[in-house]
Formats: sequence, structure tokens, C-alpha cells
Amino acid sequence: MHGIVETRIVFSALLLYKELLCLRCLLALALLIALFFLASSSLSLRSLCFRVLGIRLVGGVRSEVTMAGGAVVAGGEGKEYPGKLTLFVLLTCVVAATGGLIFGYDIGISGDVNPSICGVTSMDSFLTKFFPEVLSKEKANKSTNQYCTFDSPLLTIFTSSLYLAALVSSFFASVVTRVFGRKWSMLGGGLIFLIGSALNGAAINVSMLIFGRIFLGIGIGFANQSVPLYLSEMAPARLRGMLNIGFQLMITIGIFAANVINYGTAKIEGGWGWRVSLALAAVPASIITIGSLFLPDTPNSLIERGHPEAAKEMLRRVRGTDDVYEEFSDLVTASEESKMVKHPWKNILKRKYRPQLTMTILIPFFQQLTGINVIMFYAPVLFKTIGFGDDASLMSAVITGVVNVVATFVSIFTVDKLGRRKLFLQGGTQMLISQAIVGTLIAIKFGTSGQGQIPKGYGYVVLFFICVYVAGFAWSWGPLGWLVPSEIFPLEIRSAGQSINVSVNMFFTFIIAQVFLTMLCHMKFGLFYFFAGWVLIMTIFIALFLPETKNVPIEEMISVWKAHWFWGKFIADEDIHVRGDHVGSADLHAKA
Ligand code: BGC
Repeated sequence: MHGIVETRIVFSALLLYKELLCLRCLLALALLIALFFLASSSLSLRSLCFRVLGIRLVGGVRSEVTMAGGAVVAGGEGKEYPGKLTLFVLLTCVVAATGGLIFGYDIGISGDVNPSICGVTSMDSFLTKFFPEVLSKEKANKSTNQYCTFDSPLLTIFTSSLYLAALVSSFFASVVTRVFGRKWSMLGGGLIFLIGSALNGAAINVSMLIFGRIFLGIGIGFANQSVPLYLSEMAPARLRGMLNIGFQLMITIGIFAANVINYGTAKIEGGWGWRVSLALAAVPASIITIGSLFLPDTPNSLIERGHPEAAKEMLRRVRGTDDVYEEFSDLVTASEESKMVKHPWKNILKRKYRPQLTMTILIPFFQQLTGINVIMFYAPVLFKTIGFGDDASLMSAVITGVVNVVATFVSIFTVDKLGRRKLFLQGGTQMLISQAIVGTLIAIKFGTSGQGQIPKGYGYVVLFFICVYVAGFAWSWGPLGWLVPSEIFPLEIRSAGQSINVSVNMFFTFIIAQVFLTMLCHMKFGLFYFFAGWVLIMTIFIALFLPETKNVPIEEMISVWKAHWFWGKFIADEDIHVRGDHVGSADLHAKA
């Protein structure tokens, strides 16, 4: 008798398990999780949830540390220095942010993640000249499978060679940025990118193309290493998020402009359109090169390099007030600390820097694991099947491109009010839901065989959810992936930390570009669930481990880590210095 009951229970459990695996249930699960995060933005419910989970609610939600000088630095409610947003600081930040244009233009122009679908590498004239064997294989490929599109490893390696160059160069950039100042890395980045665009535009053989791409990559490595740091140091603490996100805004504008330009040049008769696309990279490169010639260096870097008077003067100019004593003396303290550190690369491994090191590795890793580049680059394939025909790539580029640019403004205007955590949690939830829906909609039409057609109306629904996904990314992981790592490090290892951020970002963009078409062919619509799964993991990670950094002065960020329920353990009381004082444990108190 018992045996029969047990068999029934096992049988029903198996059925339930099968049910749970069905798509609808997955969707319901995603919705439930999303609701949890949305609801948990109300503090009381969240504190209840965390307490149920047995987690001490400090730092990650709201905490504060009283500094020895009496000022209060709190997660989300930072100490305020006198000063206002001056036209000078606004202009310098706008000019510096244009460094993002070169990165964005390259993403858009070369079709980095999927060279056979978009970018110059999808133009017949370009392939005929440089990769004729790829073109003939592509033409011979008659597959109608929507998951297994034409895949050329040669082209992928060629386009993503740029990421390897950027990865390596960001480490050299870190030295230039620290020893000579942020300005020179930006200038160098612009110049090297300019050389790359000239080589590419004038290319007569594959070697020229490859050298050109390596130069472009080095330029991007330098710019991405220095621009976010520059912006975070120049900006007043309470507007740091807004001014820093100018960088991501320029990336999105670069992508959009490149896509539209590519569409136009692909139509040029005579087969030299690709040259125009590649050579036009000189425009964003010239903007940042000339612009950075006129940029002043940041007060932080000036002090770090032993020019305190120039730093004080610069601080007065950027803050628009003579009352800069407090901020200046905090910068001097930070710089004294920094001088004791001779080897940033050895020091960054110390236990007290573990929180920042973890973030600067995981944030860019997670940013790429959102699947943004896959969704954006796969969009044209979907659009073709949806029935947009030859205009598919333009349509998808314009629609997702505009959403990407416009949605970035949402983060610009909210990041210093709502804070980084709320944007991360909301954006992550939105991406998770929309990704699961896109995967499900594709599964319904293409199943596992990859055969089928999407009716127009249905296609618009898919398009809508792709846009919801892109918008979620554009106000969360897109800008915050560059902002947060640039604002959490103390001066002595900031430059090294930022180069880790750049190299991890480039490494995983490279990896995803290498494997994405193979993954799509094997995992089919499951690829969308794969990325959705990662978005779930990263959202939980942020909820638990990232303290709020909005409005906290950059040189006092250590106190935010000290007050965090988990990271606090890694930082000793004597590690916290403000104006030469130490913070005793008695000064630390948490407010839940
Ligand atoms: C990411 C890129 C991505 C872009 C999209 C950036 O923050 O680093 O990989 O293509 O956003 O807007």
C-alpha cells in the first residue's frame, strides 16, 4: 500500500516538475520575482524580507557613518560641499563625455557582435575586397533556419580583435592616467583612434584593416579608461551620476549615428561606401582629440601629481565658489593616502579593497551578460523575418537606437535622486520580464525547428518587448556599468580599478561575440532565457551587495563600504581617514 502511495507521489512530483518547466510557468515565475523587486522598493517590506532571510539590514539599504570631522556621509545621503553646477564644469564634462562617441561609433559601424548581420562587414563590396571566401560561403548558405544564421569565425575574430586591443591597452592607459593625468589619456585615445580610422578608410589590404582595428581598439581602451574617471572626479557629488552618464549617452548617440550612416553608405553605387563609413570614424575621434586639448585636469589628479595650488584654483573654478576649504582638505588627505601606495596593482589585492575589486570585476561582467549586444544585433534578423524586408536593418537600428538614446535620459535625470540601486533593480526587473517574453514569443512561432514566419501584428509585439528591454538596459546596466566602477575606488587605486573594469567589459564582449551565433543555433529561443537567468542573478546580487553611492563625495566612499552589512567586515576602522582623522567604531552606526 505504502509503495503505491509513494509511487504516486513521485509520479505527481515528476508531473509537477514537468509543468514547472513549461514556458508559461517560467513566465509566471519571472513575473513573481519582478513583483518582489518592485514591491521591495518600499523600505518596510524590503526590510521585512531581508530580516526573514536573516540578513542584517545595513548599508545596502540605508546606512550612515559619522566622520571624525562631524560631517555625515551616508549611503544615499552624502556630505555636501559648498558650490554649484557651473557652466565651466558642465562644458568640460560635455566635452569629455564625447569620448564615448568613438566607442559607440565603432559598435555601430563594424557590426562587432554579429558581423554577418550588420555593419560594414555585411556589405558585399567590403567582403569582395577583403574576405571573398566569406562572401561565397555566405551566398552558398541556403538555410532557412531562423536560429542558425550564417556564421563566419574569420569575420568574428577580425571585428572583435578590437576588443582584445582595448583590453590590453587599458592597462597602459591606467599608468598614463595616474602619472600624467586623465586629460592625456583622453587626448592619446582620440589621436590613436584617429590613426585607426585613417588606416581603415584607406585600407587596400587585410593587414591595413587589421592594423587599423588594433589602433581603434587602443584608442577605445584609453578613452574608456580615462573618461568615466574624469567625469566622476570633476562633477560635484550630488550631480556626479548625471554628468557621468553623459559618457553612456555619447555611446548611444555614436551607435545610432553609425547605424544610420551605414545604411546610407551601403546604398552608394561603386562599392566604396564601406570606406566612407570607416573613414567617418575620424569625426568623433577629432571631436575628443581637439576637445581634450582644451580640457583642464581634475583637481584630484592635480593634487595626486603634486600641484596643490593649481588644484585649489581648479576647485574654485569648477565649484564656482571660493569656499572650497573642506573639499580641498579632503582631497589632500586622499592624496596623502595615495602617496603611501607605490604599487597600485599589488595593493588592489589587499583585503580592504575587496569590495571595490569585486564590483569592478562583476559589474562589467554582468553588463555584458545582460545580453544587450546580442539582442541589439539579433534584432535585424528578427526584423527581416517579421517582413520589413531590405529595410530591416535600418528599421531596427532606428527604432532600438532611438529608444536607447532617449531612455538614457531617464537615468540622467533620476540617477542622483533615486540612486543607483533603484535604477539597477527596476531596470533589471524590466529586462528580465521582457527577455522572457521575447524568448517565449519566438518559441511559439519558431519552436525548436527554427522554421516559420512571423505575421506583422505579432512582429510588432516582439518589437515592442525588444524596445522595453533596450529601455531597461539604457537606464540601468548601460550607464551604471560605467558610472559605479568609476566612483567607488579610493584615489590610490582608482586608475588601476578602472582599467580592470574596461578590460573585463572588453573581454566578455569579445567572448559573447565569439560564441553567440553557435549558442543561438544550439540553445534556440532558450538563449533569451539564458540571458534572463543572468539578469535575475545580477539583480539579486545588486540587491544584496551594492551599497547606495549617490551624493557621496568620491574621496569618502570608503565609509559607504564600511557601513555595509557584508563588506564592512573587510575594512578596519583605521582604514578610514577623513582630514587625517580615523573613524572609531563608536562613530559607526546603522539606521535601518
Ligand atoms: C556597453 C556596450 C553596449 C552599449 C549599448 C554600453 O554601456 O558597454 O557593450 O553595446 O552600452 O548602448
